[in-house]
Amino acid sequence: MKNPWADLPKPLVYLAPMSGVTNRAYRQIVKQFHSDVLFPEFVSIDGMHFGSEKTNVLLEYDEIERPIIAQVFGARPAYFFEAAQKVVELGFDGVDINFGCPAPKVAKNGGGCALLGDLGLCREIIQATLDGAAGRIPVSVKTRMSFGKTHVREFCRVIADLPLANLCVHGRPFEKPYLGSANLDPIREAKTLIPFPVTASGHAHTPEAAKETLDYTGCDGVALARGTFGKPWIGKQIKDYLETGTYTEPTLSEKLNVMLEHARLVERYHTNRPFVEIRKILGWYVRDFPNAANYRSQLVRVNTIQEIEQIVTQIQK
Ligand SMILES: Cc1cc2nc3c(=O)[nH]c(=O)nc-3n(C[C@H](O)[C@H](O)[C@H](O)COP(=O)(O)O)c2cc1C
Repeated sequence: MKNPWADLPKPLVYLAPMSGVTNRAYRQIVKQFHSDVLFPEFVSIDGMHFGSEKTNVLLEYDEIERPIIAQVFGARPAYFFEAAQKVVELGFDGVDINFGCPAPKVAKNGGGCALLGDLGLCREIIQATLDGAAGRIPVSVKTRMSFGKTHVREFCRVIADLPLANLCVHGRPFEKPYLGSANLDPIREAKTLIPFPVTASGHAHTPEAAKETLDYTGCDGVALARGTFGKPWIGKQIKDYLETGTYTEPTLSEKLNVMLEHARLVERYHTNRPFVEIRKILGWYVRDFPNAANYRSQLVRVNTIQEIEQIVTQIQK
């Protein structure tokens, strides 16, 4: 079995799954710079069981995105078994189980981080997924530092003897899912408890912070999420910084070219209302530009690629 978590050189630097963000265009623009592995937006095991069209579309990918790992969420072990079989059939390079999502639509149905309230069920779900994958693709898990009284160390104790390929820990609790700085201590502790690779999520918003995360936690890699918003090149900057101690910032014109290419990819892949998505990502790119508010107010109204090109020309003047 090929296993990107074990086979790729460490430390791993990769784009974490983000629902509503890591669509095909987003993944491909990040991959152009650097991401050791990629994930589509997570999908529901119930959606897979019932053959939801929306779920099928979310699982579409291109060969250039390999290694690509499908992340699944839900609460029923039997559906995890089926989902893992389906993920193998679809040709993915791994299956990842979500034990961290705080969103009500996931957690209120017993999935995501709510699963941490029943560690026996977590183990059952992992076992069912391992059985469904049947050694054909690696199985990994992603969680967060705590859910109510359950700390990630307890989760680690329950899963440490299982043949998993990776554990990714996000250093924020369920109660403050995305607020404030991430706590690296629970991630560092998880690394001491787990015999397979552990990756860290939540602090790596700059190359310096990525290095700090790796140095402090001793982890095998960092997962990037919001730090990539408008900066799809950050994975390469992190790799360069880790290898050489320096990195370069793309020029204004390079950034604008990437932004345009990203918009074109969204238009190509997301035929259903592409400009809703395009306006969102354009806002991220110009966020730190001088005069950002002005460009942003124009970009949130664009309806064609030509309109974006005109604004780009104006920014370059
Ligand atoms: C918009 C958004 C969607 C997310 N969706 C997922 C998801 O589907 N699966 C998952 O495991 N984590 C998801 N996350 C969590 C991220 O992967 C990451 O762990 C978290 O944002 C912390 O990293 P950061 O501080 O670098 O953003 C999401 C985060 C954001 C901001």
